Amino acid sequence: MESISRRAFLRGAAATGAASGAAALLGSRAWAAPALWKQPGSTDASVADQLHIAYGADPSSQMMVSWHTDTSVSRPRILIGSPRGRMEVEIPAETRSYVDGINGVETICHHARAGWLEPNTSYVYQVLADGAAPVTGTFTTAPLGRFPFRFTSVGDLATPNTSWKKSSLNAATTVHQIGQFNPMFHLHNGDLSYANNNESSQPAVWADFMNNIQSVASNTPWMTALGNHESEWGNGPLGYASYQTRFDLPATGSNRPAWQGNWYSFKVGSAFIVSLDANDVVYQNSGSADPDNSAVGLYIHGYSNGAQTAWLDRTLAGARRDPEVDWIIVFFHQPVMSSSSSGAGGDLGLRRTFMPLFDKYGVDLALCGHDHDYERTYLVKGTDPGTELRPTVVSQDTATVDTDGGHLHMVIGGGGTSGHDDVYGADTAGTDPIYGGDPIAQLYLDTPADEVFGNAATGREVATWSAVRDPDTTHPWGLATFDVDPGDHPGGRTTISVSFYHTPPATVAAPFPAPVLFDRFTLTKTRRDGFGGHRFGDRGRRDRDRVPATR
Ligand SMILES: [Fe+2]
Repeated sequence: MESISRRAFLRGAAATGAASGAAALLGSRAWAAPALWKQPGSTDASVADQLHIAYGADPSSQMMVSWHTDTSVSRPRILIGSPRGRMEVEIPAETRSYVDGINGVETICHHARAGWLEPNTSYVYQVLADGAAPVTGTFTTAPLGRFPFRFTSVGDLATPNTSWKKSSLNAATTVHQIGQFNPMFHLHNGDLSYANNNESSQPAVWADFMNNIQSVASNTPWMTALGNHESEWGNGPLGYASYQTRFDLPATGSNRPAWQGNWYSFKVGSAFIVSLDANDVVYQNSGSADPDNSAVGLYIHGYSNGAQTAWLDRTLAGARRDPEVDWIIVFFHQPVMSSSSSGAGGDLGLRRTFMPLFDKYGVDLALCGHDHDYERTYLVKGTDPGTELRPTVVSQDTATVDTDGGHLHMVIGGGGTSGHDDVYGADTAGTDPIYGGDPIAQLYLDTPADEVFGNAATGREVATWSAVRDPDTTHPWGLATFDVDPGDHPGGRTTISVSFYHTPPATVAAPFPAPVLFDRFTLTKTRRDGFGGHRFGDRGRRDRDRVPATR
């Protein structure tokens, strides 16, 4: 390990222009200045960019630091230290690379895994390589036990470089807003860069995406789920080489390289959060088209042959046995339910695989994207007889929703991509015997023939489950914040206050229009530590729960 004093370390941070970040680390975590981490332009190809962090499976002790360099570098590593001087450790990075299957450009990324960190502790880190100028970031590990925290969520971001297809200036606006909301972590519900719609420039589009999120993601864990646009023609059997080269995520429990990071879980406080790859189970084919034959799409339905769903079964069973877990939150890209008429709609594939497990294990909340709008459902559980597994509405409460009785789904798909879908199915004018007046929703019912690109939804249903939709086309983008209140006694109530903010179009002259609150509601449920909770409760979790530092 290279010896470097803490003082020299922090001096080094200042020398890179990150002094404000280090100063903020020493004071409060609540700093927000997206421009802060924009490194000055450099002609040095060995300088790190696209810097971002992610939790390991245990956010109280593990953090992954990831970055990109234009060229190969010698001894990529991070130096990590706590401002109180308790530790200072150098961690070598693993380098991953791939060559884009369409334009032949090589992408080189590096990942360093910090384990055995102290809970609820802020750290400063430097990204290093021999001969390269250091780049600095900060992060804070999660506390142990139950505690209040905020996270944010949105999907379908794209880049702020409007020369790329599917990108808009609002991609920068949304990242700016996430920084202002200062979440403990962020959930990105799939469809990240839309590089696959810019076939000849995929690595360059990814670079713009990653550098856009760096202002937040270099100090706030950015946890992702795979969307259809992450499946790129020419980049591996699933098309995930770009994604898997750039993101280092908790393990799936599988040794297969093609599955790494495709699904995973982590636990923060009283919330157990699961990222799923819906591409494995949906029937719609809306990823990448063959550049030589646009009628043919890359269709990867069923690639895990049920392994992901079996993992989900085991993982949710374990979470529900854990008395420290009150909330189970799942996030994935394509929604189970959506009444968007200009978007995709729902998918029977999800209803046949994931949904029964959400019912079985009492999942509380599902977050999706894909349709570029905002919609939330009523509380649902089970299915309506005689339908295409249409989820049954078990409560029409909208202000306060008790998830002891079921789960609620949200589509939050207006992150920043240029196209928006805030047009919804027409009302039925009372034809439904129970919920007359509900909209008609689209539904994918079966696999496409011969990998047809962009297969249409052939099913329709009355969207009895649709509770709130945002049809305001003057505010087509938006994100959601989630404030978890763990409650104050074992067996008592815990809540999540959910807010969806939407945003008007950004302009070059006014790039950061303010978010406007559109929807706010409260999820509530019973804490899971009500029976002998003191024995299993917060005080019981210490070193026995630490897992090895790798992933
Ligand atoms: Fe999508």
